[in-house]
Amino acid sequence: MTRFILAALFLVASGSWADSALETYNRTCRICHANGVGGAPKTGDVNAWRPRLEKGMESLIRASNRGLNGMPPKGMCYECSDQDFEALISYMSKSAS
Ligand code: HEC
Repeated sequence: MTRFILAALFLVASGSWADSALETYNRTCRICHANGVGGAPKTGDVNAWRPRLEKGMESLIRASNRGLNGMPPKGMCYECSDQDFEALISYMSKSAS
């Protein structure tokens, strides 16, 4: 029984986390990354993200915090933590299909 409750809690927690990450993406990164505004690597465009990912996740999280050329500091997500950026970057760099 305890195990069942823990499993249920885990599912609820991970489900709502995924929803809030997507909600954050829709409010922030998406504005530029959906259409490649200002040369932003497009969401779901694996080829555009590959050279970025090769720099390493640490470096991409740093760029998210500091900004880079047309990309504003924190990508307009001022409450995002490094973990949030990592989740958002993973989401954007995966194939849309
Ligand atoms: C106002 C537009 C804009 C928004 C909003 C935005 N980006 Fe970007 N982003 C860009 C542009 C433009 C680039 C390409 C910068 C370059 O390489 O010159 C970029 C590049 C990046 C890169 C690659 C950095 C590198 O080192 O190559 C990452 C990672 C990134 N964005 C993450 C995010 C995340 C996460 C969010 C949402 C929290 C976000 N961006 C929101 C415009 C934006």
